[in-house]
Amino acid sequence: MNLGGSETAAVAKIAPATGKLGVMVVGLGAVATTFIAGVEAVRRGIAKPIGSLTQMGTIRLGKRTDSNSPLLKEFLPLANLNDVIFTGWDIFEDNVYESAAHAKVLDKDLIEQLKPFLETIKPLPAVFDQYYVKRLHGTHVKKGKNKRDLANQVVEDIRNFKKTVDRVVMIWCASTEIFIEPAAVHQSIEAFEKGLDNDDIAIAPSQIYAYAALSEGVPFANGAPNLTVDFPAMVELSKKNAAPICGKDFKTGQTFMKTVLAPAFKARLLGVSGWYSTNILGNRDGEVLDDPESFKTKEESKLGSLEYIFQPELYPDLYKNIFHKVRINYYPPRGDNKEGWDNIDIFGWLGYPMQIKVDFLCRDSILAAPIALDLVLFLDLAKRTPSLRSLGIQEWLSFYLKSPQTAPGLYPEHDLFIQSMKLKNTLRHIMGEGLITHLGLEYYD
Ligand SMILES: NC(=O)c1ccc[n+]([C@@H]2O[C@H](COP(=O)([O-])OP(=O)(O)OC[C@H]3O[C@@H](n4cnc5c(N)ncnc54)[C@H](O)[C@@H]3O)[C@@H](O)[C@H]2O)c1
Repeated sequence: MNLGGSETAAVAKIAPATGKLGVMVVGLGAVATTFIAGVEAVRRGIAKPIGSLTQMGTIRLGKRTDSNSPLLKEFLPLANLNDVIFTGWDIFEDNVYESAAHAKVLDKDLIEQLKPFLETIKPLPAVFDQYYVKRLHGTHVKKGKNKRDLANQVVEDIRNFKKTVDRVVMIWCASTEIFIEPAAVHQSIEAFEKGLDNDDIAIAPSQIYAYAALSEGVPFANGAPNLTVDFPAMVELSKKNAAPICGKDFKTGQTFMKTVLAPAFKARLLGVSGWYSTNILGNRDGEVLDDPESFKTKEESKLGSLEYIFQPELYPDLYKNIFHKVRINYYPPRGDNKEGWDNIDIFGWLGYPMQIKVDFLCRDSILAAPIALDLVLFLDLAKRTPSLRSLGIQEWLSFYLKSPQTAPGLYPEHDLFIQSMKLKNTLRHIMGEGLITHLGLEYYD
């Protein structure tokens, strides 16, 4: 393949994706089983990896006239899906076949076809405490004398898995925990470790998994909105052990739409006076989010994007007083098929009001699974890329997340198209290719 650019030293420095990539999934529920079963279906040629940039996306290199847009998976030294091995933890003993059947996201036929593979993935006992997820009663859980002991048990799990694979990435696909504000215990590695010894209440199970992963140099992605790696102790640990992290909460349905529409209004200087978002959702995630404390965590994550995109401090006449409301209602008949409604009150020339209604009848886990796959493959790439892994936070992966993580003091970029450009330019950069600025004056010389 002609990549059309200078195959520079930067390429040579990325370690190749040789051997097996081990993926440790925390929480083997709807998203995780849809992700795992989907990867197996794609490997067998039963279905296509729709929605996955790493599997189906292309990247333009050089000028538009060069006609050079290789597939990302041919351009980059990404792990091949055939080399991906899964394991995970859950608070229930169901294997991935049983859990996928329970989630009812995928057709029965497909799950039956994949059964021999799926039933080999059995969850390890989880780190769990009902204080942090009120609606669940875990039975398959680790016991330990304190949180430090539990972290050590997760480290043991990681080390055991490492014996069977060449590299490891961890991803949180477990339930949303209660809202926790960063406290003193989160401010340094030392304080956090003391907190593990003292069973500090501000240390939730997700933080214990993340601490174990980052301590072992394992990259960590957070699919949920919990406070997990977005505090100084974890950023420090991530940098110290060159274990990439990347923000939180898969950007799948309503927020995905928000971060597409809001930049369009802003680009055309259309004002917004109100944005009312509501959802009905009937899966276990919906049940967990029915608890006000878990909902608060989700709400914070969902509310953030508009404020940053609209920059009301720069455009007070357009966006200063937006009434923004987000609701999630647990409605069992819909299962994983969520319906998200948005009513957007906008105004145009001379202040005349208009309305936009969005009704997104989506499938939550179908939208989340390719994001989980891309995050895992890109974090593994980041870990093998010297110029990225030592940075800790991988801001270029914000594209996938409702709550991007940034360097201290830097506002997050929520606009999906800026995020997409940032992601692709980062990939060009690490591969020694020229960045694309979209200036294009040279075509008219
Ligand atoms: N699907 C989406 O579009 C989407 C988007 C953004 C975020 N999320 C988040 O992804 C997460 C997973 O969603 P889901 O629909 O798969 O939910 P789910 O309830 O089907 O699965 C979560 C699983 O995690 C397990 N679990 C809970 N606490 C655990 C712990 N401490 N250790 C190990 N396992 C634990 C549960 O037993 C369950 O099997 C949720 O937090 C959800 O908010 C989903």
